[in-house]
Amino acid sequence: TGGDPEAGERVFRRCAACHAVGEDAQSRVGPELNQLFGRVPASVEGFSYSTAMQEFGETNVWDTETLHAYLQAPRDVVPGTKMAFPGLRKDEEVVDLLAYLAQYDDE
Ligand code: HEM
Repeated sequence: TGGDPEAGERVFRRCAACHAVGEDAQSRVGPELNQLFGRVPASVEGFSYSTAMQEFGETNVWDTETLHAYLQAPRDVVPGTKMAFPGLRKDEEVVDLLAYLAQYDDE
């Protein structure tokens, strides 16, 4: 994705209150985030998603573009999402974060 995964790891601290990624990651307040690229939204087994996210998943896939948009403005991209996060302001933060998460695409 072109970003800096180490900088992205620092950005991920803002997500880690609710999300885990990496070996043995479990869903918590939010779903685990392994193998995110190519994931159908709202498809982690056993996690209780909002109706809004389930509907979003009927016509979308998480890829660099949809993730970038969602992480900048969650409620604009998925109105009614229960993810209580305002969004990342800077493009660079999102690009770095996605480079970090892409490291967990094959576990
Ligand atoms: C959903 C990423 C911050 C709680 C999601 C999804 C992604 C994501 C990609 C959709 C996953 C899927 O469809 O399986 C992130 C990232 C964050 C962040 C990268 C930091 C930049 C947070 C925070 C919270 C949170 C801080 C808790 C306060 C949730 C919840 C959902 C969710 C509850 C399910 C949303 C729904 O069903 O509408 N997150 N998240 N997230 N996240 Fe986050």
